[in-house]
Amino acid sequence: MPYSQAVELLLARHATPAKYLAEPAPQGEHLDLILQAAMSAPDHGGLQPWRFLLVRGAALAHLGELFAESLHRRQPEASFEQLERERDKPTRSPLLILLIFNPQASANVPEWEQMMSLGAAAEHMQLMAQALGYGSVWLSGQRCADSWLTHQLGLEENERLYGYLAMGTPSTDCTGKVRGNPWDVVREWAG
Ligand SMILES: Cc1cc2nc3c(=O)[nH]c(=O)nc-3n(C[C@H](O)[C@H](O)[C@H](O)COP(=O)(O)O)c2cc1C
Repeated sequence: MPYSQAVELLLARHATPAKYLAEPAPQGEHLDLILQAAMSAPDHGGLQPWRFLLVRGAALAHLGELFAESLHRRQPEASFEQLERERDKPTRSPLLILLIFNPQASANVPEWEQMMSLGAAAEHMQLMAQALGYGSVWLSGQRCADSWLTHQLGLEENERLYGYLAMGTPSTDCTGKVRGNPWDVVREWAG
């Protein structure tokens, strides 16, 4: 259900496991809004050190083939069941947004700041998706660091795959997660 209050949305952000992300996936105006939300992430120098690949429809199964091949290359001893599980992963949700870190040369903005910007951009997309009634989860795994796989996906040498957002319409209610008390990790610094 869409949130009307930004305060409520921020406090209630939560992941929805990929297997509970069903059709319909965001598309059209909703997808535009989700991608637009990434662009308002804090971004020192306005470098936009990111780009995104959308994977949906038949391409999900194709990505699954690449995931399985990647696992086989990394772990030749992987069992048939492990390879099948890996092959199935991208097909559990109707839309994936691959998060590509595209660092920009800058004298003032070190790479770690640019990485943080990509993280913020990803969470902005998750928040917008939730505001529009969709669910999402940020996923990664060792496959993301596999240069064979990233090459297949068309990433440049300097680019990194920092995971992907799986998105869709929640088929079950994943709200109500109990969160920590911020004051456990906050102290006053008095100089
Ligand atoms: C960069 C990044 C990578 C992640 N990769 C995975 C992953 O591969 N598998 C997984 O189960 N959760 C992964 N997570 C965690 C989930 O996205 C999610 O945050 C977690 O299940 C906790 O749920 P919550 O977001 O509702 O607190 C990752 C989170 C981040 C920020």
